[in-house]
Amino acid sequence: MQPLLTLDDLVVAASGRRLVDGVGLHVDAGERVALVGPSGAGKSLTVGAVLGRLGAAYDATARLRLGDRALDVARPTGRDGLAAVHQASAVALNPVVAVGTQLALVVRRRRRCGRAEARRSAVALLRAVDLDDAERLRRRCPGELSGGQRQRVCLALALASRPRLLIADEPTTALDTVTRRRTADTLDRLCAQHGTALLLVTHDVQVARDLCTRAVRLEAGRVVGEDAW
Ligand SMILES: Nc1ncnc2c1ncn2[C@@H]1O[C@H](COP(=O)(O)OP(=O)(O)O)[C@@H](O)[C@H]1O
Ligand SMILES: [Mg+2]
Repeated sequence: MQPLLTLDDLVVAASGRRLVDGVGLHVDAGERVALVGPSGAGKSLTVGAVLGRLGAAYDATARLRLGDRALDVARPTGRDGLAAVHQASAVALNPVVAVGTQLALVVRRRRRCGRAEARRSAVALLRAVDLDDAERLRRRCPGELSGGQRQRVCLALALASRPRLLIADEPTTALDTVTRRRTADTLDRLCAQHGTALLLVTHDVQVARDLCTRAVRLEAGRVVGEDAW
């Protein structure tokens, strides 16, 4: 069976420096893989290339496939089935639009359904990410939520498109310890429930062990080892 995601020989350079040098990894359908390594190892550049979102400051080349589709690491197109959450993904939320409305928009785009159904789905998604009082919360703008609540909204947004693979770059790093634990649990449960594959960037070995079945270790832009447990 071919992997869901295959990345081979990723090279990323900027200002004449090679920042990522020959990185390869794969994720099977429904599999959960951690990408671990110290700060500056090249983890975010690697997922940025997978998402095609590095931008013009970088020169990136690789062989990248999503299923049987070849993708360009320099462009974000062709990523249907792929969704992402980031450490600071809350900045991607529109600050002046209620979170329920933002979610309903994604649902409508995806399912081409009516407003009422989209609103119901939005509330269901907020509940699914363990946000209490979703009915009241959906009317609030991002600034009226806590950091943990905002990150859950981002998770709900990412999952609204029913991705086959979720890429999460340090999704819990900006949160306090208790919130971090609970958000990781939610991520764990949702991926299990929907059979969503996960590529989880983290420097928290415990989170990697709890959520994933193997890890790819990066250091100074190269893969230095793999662990399975
Ligand atoms: N535009 C750039 N110019 C020079 N160096 C960069 C640039 N962008 C990122 N880097 C460097 O590339 C390395 C890898 O970055 P990153 O992938 O963000 O690391 P992390 O593993 O912490 O996510 C870091 O040392 C970072 O400083
Ligand atoms: Mg990073």
